[in-house]
Amino acid sequence: MLARSALRSARPVGAAARNAASKTASRSVSTSSSTAEGASSWKTNALPVGATAFAIGTVAWYAYIAGRDVDAMTPAEEGLHPTQYPWEHAKWNKTFDSQALRRGFQVYREVCASCHSLSRIPYRSLVGKIMTVDEAKALAEENEYDTEPNDEGEIEKRPGKLSDYLPGPYKNDEAARAANNGALPPDLSLMVKARHGGCNYIFSLLTGYPDEPPAGAVVPEGLNFNPYFPGTGIAMARVLYDDLVEYEDETPATTSQMAKDVTEFLNWAAEPEADDRKKMGWKVLAVTSVLTALSIWVKRYKWASVKSRKIVYNPPIKSPILSKLPKPTNKS
Ligand code: HEC
Repeated sequence: MLARSALRSARPVGAAARNAASKTASRSVSTSSSTAEGASSWKTNALPVGATAFAIGTVAWYAYIAGRDVDAMTPAEEGLHPTQYPWEHAKWNKTFDSQALRRGFQVYREVCASCHSLSRIPYRSLVGKIMTVDEAKALAEENEYDTEPNDEGEIEKRPGKLSDYLPGPYKNDEAARAANNGALPPDLSLMVKARHGGCNYIFSLLTGYPDEPPAGAVVPEGLNFNPYFPGTGIAMARVLYDDLVEYEDETPATTSQMAKDVTEFLNWAAEPEADDRKKMGWKVLAVTSVLTALSIWVKRYKWASVKSRKIVYNPPIKSPILSKLPKPTNKS
C-alpha cells in the first residue's frame, strides 16, 4: 500500500516537470490541471497512509503489551513437550486394537499394578473387549472381596464377581506413600485424560528415562530424572525394560512395545466408550447426510413453481379515447 501511494504521489511531480518543460502550453490549463491533480492525490494518499500507520501502530502496541512470553515456569519445570505419535486407535475411523489392549492389560497387571490402582474398572468391562467372560470370571475369583454384613453383623470374604472393581495394591493412600518414599502413585483409570498430552505424554514418560541424567541436571535424593515429567524429578523409577513380560501372542516385548500397549490400554480405561462413540458418530453422519439430501430435494421441489415462474408485463392496449387526450408535456 505504501509502495502504491508512493507511486501515486510521484505522478504530480512528473506532471509538474512535464508542465515546466512545455512552457508553450496554455498556462491556465496546465496550472489548473496540475493543482487539481496535486490536491486529489494528497487526499487519496492521506487515508491509506494513515490507515497503514494506524495498523502498524496497533500491531506494535499489541506486541508490546502481549507479545512477550510470560511463563510462570521454566521449560525444565514445565517438562519436555512430548512427541506427537500417530496413535492408530485415536483416529476418527479406527477403533481400539483388542490384541493391543490385551497386551496392555497384561503389562498393567504384571508391572504397574504393584504400585498403581485402576479403581474405576470393573471386571465386567473387560469382557468382550479384552477377554472372554470365563477369563474375566476366573480373574475376578483370584481376589477376595467383603460380603454384605450377615445376620450377626459380621463381614466375611467372598471370591470376586464380574461386578467387582479391580483391587488396588495398597490399603489406603498412606500405605501407598509409605511404600513409595512419600510419593503417591496416582490411580491410572483416568490418567490419559488427566495429563496434558494424553497418550503421547504417558508413552514419552515411560520410555523417556535416560541412562544417566544429563550433565548439570540436579536430581534430588530419591527421585529419578525424566525430562517429560514437570520438574524433571519423578518418584517413579524406570519400570519398563526389554523382555520384562512375555506376551502370549509372541509379540516381541520391547520397552517401546510395552509402553505403547499399556498406553493404549490406559486410553481405553479412560474412555471405554470411545469405540461406541465413533460408531454412533458414523450412524449420525449417515442418517443426517440422507436427511440433508432429502431436505434439499424437498426445498427445491416446493420452490420449483415459484422459481420457474415467469412474470410477463403486458403493456395496456392503446385505447382510442386515451390517444385523443393531449399528450403530457414537461412544460408546466
Ligand atoms: C514401584 C512402583 C511403581 C510402578 C511399578 C509403576 N509406577 Fe507409576 N508412579 C509411581 C509413583 C510413586 C508415582 C508418582 C511420581 C511422582 O509424583 O513423582 C508414579 C506416577 C506415575 C504416573 C503419573 C505421572 C504424572 O504426570 O503425575 C504415570 C502416568 C505412571 N506412574 C504410569 C505408570 C505405568 C504405566 C506403570 C506400568 C508400566 C507404572 N507407572 C509403574 C510408582 C510406580
